[in-house]
Amino acid sequence: MKADLVIHGGTVVTDASAFPASVAVKDGRVLSVGAREAMPEAAETLDATGLHVLPGAIDVHVHFREPGYTHKEDFGTGTAAAAFGGVTTVFDMPNVIPPTGTAEALAMKHKLASEKAHVDYGLYGLLGEDTIAHVPDLVAGGVIGFKLYMGNTFGNTPSPSTGGMLEAFEVVAPTGKRVSLHAETASIMARREARLRAAGRKDPLAHLAARPAVVAVEAVARAAILSEWTGCRIHVLHISSAEELRPLREAKARGVDVTGETCPQYLLLGAEDYGRLGGVIRVNPPVREARNQAPLWAALMDGTIDMIATDHAPHIPDEKVRDDIFTVDCGFPGVETQMPLMLTEVAAGRMSISDYVGWTAVAPAKCWGLYPRKGVLQPGADADIAIVDLGHHWAIDDRKLQSRAKITPWHGRAVTGLPVHTLVRGRFVMKDRTLVESARGWGRSVHTIQEMPKPELRNPDSTMTAIVQKPDGASGVAA
Ligand code: DOR
Ligand code: ZN
Repeated sequence: MKADLVIHGGTVVTDASAFPASVAVKDGRVLSVGAREAMPEAAETLDATGLHVLPGAIDVHVHFREPGYTHKEDFGTGTAAAAFGGVTTVFDMPNVIPPTGTAEALAMKHKLASEKAHVDYGLYGLLGEDTIAHVPDLVAGGVIGFKLYMGNTFGNTPSPSTGGMLEAFEVVAPTGKRVSLHAETASIMARREARLRAAGRKDPLAHLAARPAVVAVEAVARAAILSEWTGCRIHVLHISSAEELRPLREAKARGVDVTGETCPQYLLLGAEDYGRLGGVIRVNPPVREARNQAPLWAALMDGTIDMIATDHAPHIPDEKVRDDIFTVDCGFPGVETQMPLMLTEVAAGRMSISDYVGWTAVAPAKCWGLYPRKGVLQPGADADIAIVDLGHHWAIDDRKLQSRAKITPWHGRAVTGLPVHTLVRGRFVMKDRTLVESARGWGRSVHTIQEMPKPELRNPDSTMTAIVQKPDGASGVAA
């Protein structure tokens, strides 16, 4: 059998090892991985001598802003940034206009993404007090999972009450989908921010003061209780503090199906960077005191935190550079810089390249039912590949990023490691650091290949559906 492409001479990386091997690709899938002389003939070959061949990263947390905020980003620019960052699948968030909380809004987003995306994607549905009834339509319309905002952030998506959240979990649980949580408690933050503003605080560190770690501790603990009660799968987004690791660890120990991510900004930046960066560093949850970094790294190492995502949240310079920190839009681009930043830590010996692949490809694929179609380079898997130069020293330059929002906290940072080529389902989407323009629209929604294991429902007799469906109209819990 003739292959479409054979990649020779590189070092193939899995979450367990790194070994010299060639990779043959046919019809968008990996055909074989092995010795050069064992490879089939190929229509095209790529010399990857000196390079590492990784499963492309899966970033389960990006905001590509479409529709509604396309001056910040769209599916074309966002997925181009992903391609340059070695990221081959992204999960896009629903805080757009209109929010992705109805079948119509979801259909519109699918259309936009399918026309423009350079890489594969999943779309989150919005789970809020007002969208619980839409869950079946959103699942039928093709969501990868749901996003629930326990705390306010950009877009001011209202946070559901605890009662609304319980009902939302009851409704999502039987679908098997995972609910990704912005786990910061809104009422604590609103009260503290109002106090700080009334006191005249508008300096960058006032943002951190408004959102102390207890907002995350309380939210993670409460969400874990509701997940445990219902059997609804959850994912804790952007873990930022040492303190929230305790409720996360305890929930995992109790058998709650909860996963978690952290982001480069929480591993690499600290409170001392607020003075230097001003509004650019404003993000929710906030970058915290540097003492949090070591516990977050340790939690990745011991599996408490499952993966690395970016919370790619682009805003243009006008929206980031303002005197009053509370008027600065929250977040910054990250999908293009995650891999170089983290590979720099590999070069520094903080983790192995296999750890990195585990946290950025294998774990996200497994947690969302995409494994082994995605997240691994083995026969039968999608040929989603990041070919990287681990020894390349360079400096991040915001002006050269693909994102429409050319302002990040990483500008000028020295890094070691660069994605040189990126393939999605066997096709180059970025080659030799150049965007393959013709691959625009090549990206596909991955919900079609998602297979979540059967959910384990808890307390099904006490759900709102069970109660209101009693034939005699009697209310209350089953006898
Ligand atoms: O800082 C943030 N920005 N955090 C979020 O959770 C949302 C994001 C955005 O959409 O800008
Ligand atoms: Zn986010």
